[in-house]
Amino acid sequence: MGYKVAVVGATGNVGREMLDILAERGFPADEVVALASSRSIGTEVSFGDKTLKTKVLEHYDFSDTDICLMSAGGAVSKEWSPKIGAQGCVVIDNSSSWRMDPDVPLVVPEVNADAVAGFTKKNIIANPNCSTAQLVVALKPLHDAFGIQRVVVSTYQSVSGAGKDAMDELFSQTRAVFVTDPIEPKKFPKRIAFNLIPQIDVFMEDGFTKEEWKMMAETKKILDPKIKLTATCVRVPVFIAHSEAVNIEFEKPVTADEARDILREAPGCLVIDKREPGGYITPYEAAGEDATYISRIREDATVENGIAMWIVSDNLRKGAALNAVQIAEVLVNRKLIQPKAAKAA
Ligand SMILES: NC(=O)c1ccc[n+]([C@@H]2O[C@H](COP(=O)([O-])OP(=O)(O)OC[C@H]3O[C@@H](n4cnc5c(N)ncnc54)[C@H](OP(=O)(O)O)[C@@H]3O)[C@@H](O)[C@H]2O)c1
Repeated sequence: MGYKVAVVGATGNVGREMLDILAERGFPADEVVALASSRSIGTEVSFGDKTLKTKVLEHYDFSDTDICLMSAGGAVSKEWSPKIGAQGCVVIDNSSSWRMDPDVPLVVPEVNADAVAGFTKKNIIANPNCSTAQLVVALKPLHDAFGIQRVVVSTYQSVSGAGKDAMDELFSQTRAVFVTDPIEPKKFPKRIAFNLIPQIDVFMEDGFTKEEWKMMAETKKILDPKIKLTATCVRVPVFIAHSEAVNIEFEKPVTADEARDILREAPGCLVIDKREPGGYITPYEAAGEDATYISRIREDATVENGIAMWIVSDNLRKGAALNAVQIAEVLVNRKLIQPKAAKAA
């Protein structure tokens, strides 16, 4: 007997990807339910070779559902995740609402899968921010080998990280440039077509943005609180996949060849690093893929024990939907939950 899984936000960018990934990976579900707001009642979404009719979250009873993959934004998660958890359904949440809660594990399975077991306090597990997920997949094996002291990261984040309306805004502004229509920023604070914006999320008192703060705080929670990290997060006119230019300072000496060899063997990582034109990965190539791609690995001689690299991954997959499904797989494979239907039988 398999699990009953609900996807909340099933009509959104991440929710649709979750349904694809559950089907692709043959997740052991007897039933998958698509949920969204009342705006989407009856909207059909694909699940493998089937279509599901979207139901309304508010009217859904979670008492016989085992796992809820939640990707409907922070406000919905804040209100609904505790109620769903209280019905004995484990919530794997994509918003930032629960990530820093000490009673909620924040998990990237390649990095800290053991932390999943801590879900029992609230029946909620948090997925990190998309830019953090791909970063820690690449940092973890290097931290284990050489001890990371400090990370400086600049991100080049795609518009899909801000939802489906943001993708529409890039498309419509790009079209407006060609037909010389006026451009009105709505979702983004400035024009995004043929431009880039050095602000993701709101400003904090110290001048960093919330996205930059999240990368620092989440890396500490997932990987090691001793790691110092400073980030500059930038939105770029790319539809899917986030890129990151990363400089890392280690405790121990490390060569580019050593770092490359370790990353080649690391779970979730794929090294594409030829020192020739085009011998690296771009976001266009990473879109639709599961791996965290690493290119441009080189020694940074401006600091002691420094390495610089380029990291690219599909933010809707490893940055959100894939990571959530991998967490669900940990729950199942480690027998941390049993299907309610099997218990009732
Ligand atoms: N995109 C990324 O790279 C990424 C990465 C990590 C985390 N996340 C997080 O994942 C979440 C979803 O992101 P997204 O990019 O998929 O956004 P999106 O494309 O805008 O989709 C939002 C989804 O939430 C649903 N929703 C909104 N209000 C709702 C309500 N009151 N009740 C039930 N469902 C509701 C929407 O349903 P309707 O269609 O009915 O409005 C839609 O299915 C956000 O918390 C985001 O921060 C996104």
